[in-house]
Amino acid sequence: MITSNPFSDIATLIPPAVMQGYVVLMFLLVVGGTILDTVHKKSAKYFFELAKTAKKRATRTVGTGEKVSIAVGTLANEVLTSSEFNNQKRRMSHLLTMYGFIIFVVTTAILIFSYTGGDAQAPGIVSLLWHLGALMLAVGGYWFWFFIRVDVFAEGNKWYQLQQRDMFIVSLLAMSTFALLWSFTGSMLMFALFIAASTFLFSTVLWSKFAHMFFKPAAAFQKKVAWADGSRENLPFIPENRNDPETLAKFPDLKTYMGDAPLSMGLGIKRETPNHH
Ligand code: HEM
Repeated sequence: MITSNPFSDIATLIPPAVMQGYVVLMFLLVVGGTILDTVHKKSAKYFFELAKTAKKRATRTVGTGEKVSIAVGTLANEVLTSSEFNNQKRRMSHLLTMYGFIIFVVTTAILIFSYTGGDAQAPGIVSLLWHLGALMLAVGGYWFWFFIRVDVFAEGNKWYQLQQRDMFIVSLLAMSTFALLWSFTGSMLMFALFIAASTFLFSTVLWSKFAHMFFKPAAAFQKKVAWADGSRENLPFIPENRNDPETLAKFPDLKTYMGDAPLSMGLGIKRETPNHH
């Protein structure tokens, strides 16, 4: 069952051209929603202004070669391995959700465009990956929803207290859950709920957290460039070694006011987990 293409079973009811049109429409809604989001939140303007201010504060120029290597590093770390997450559970859950979503979306497009309606049978592996993608998305998503989410873990809110910011995760969960239920039961009600959830997910980009998957990589890249060019996001210089001649030249009375105290106390936020409810 998990190696068969659920879309070819439904092709007798819904013409493949309609399914393909739906996928194209969802794609256009994501593109449109992201562009509108960029304009509405003025994120592009903010990025360029930030880059301009950073340039003024920069102490060195970051060349093209270095920028390419920063971009490759951002792709390998922040994008492909979710390295921004310090909490390993959050990171694991994000990796499951992210890769599950990508596998699910790519295999949906392959199944609908290449193996629905015609004579060609979908290779078992593609259908298997479609189910696996949905399952990974559901497992990562429910783990996040019930246990990891800040509202639940740190604020003590109940898992069923919904806010506008939950639109993204809830529609991801609904889409993957109903997709699996539809494939296993063949129920038209499950199919209708699957389509309703996916339409909601892809048509609410302007209001949901969907577009973070495009903005976060850009923000991570910009942050790294700001540290490489010495503008340091306008954060103060923290000396690391109290005996370093360069540090002593910059802060001659450092030893007087710091004594033996550690020069960097680390991030306060990391000292204790925030769950005092
Ligand atoms: C296919 C793509 C992706 C999916 C399905 C996805 C899914 C999610 C989900 C469900 C959340 C939790 C949102 C919430 O608080 O309600 C999240 C948060 C986050 N994602 Fe992604 N993500 C994707 C791509 C990315 C990429 C490419 C990056 C970074 C380069 C990224 C970085 C983050 C970060 C840093 C957070 C924490 C944000 C916060 O707490 O404000 N995500 N993601």
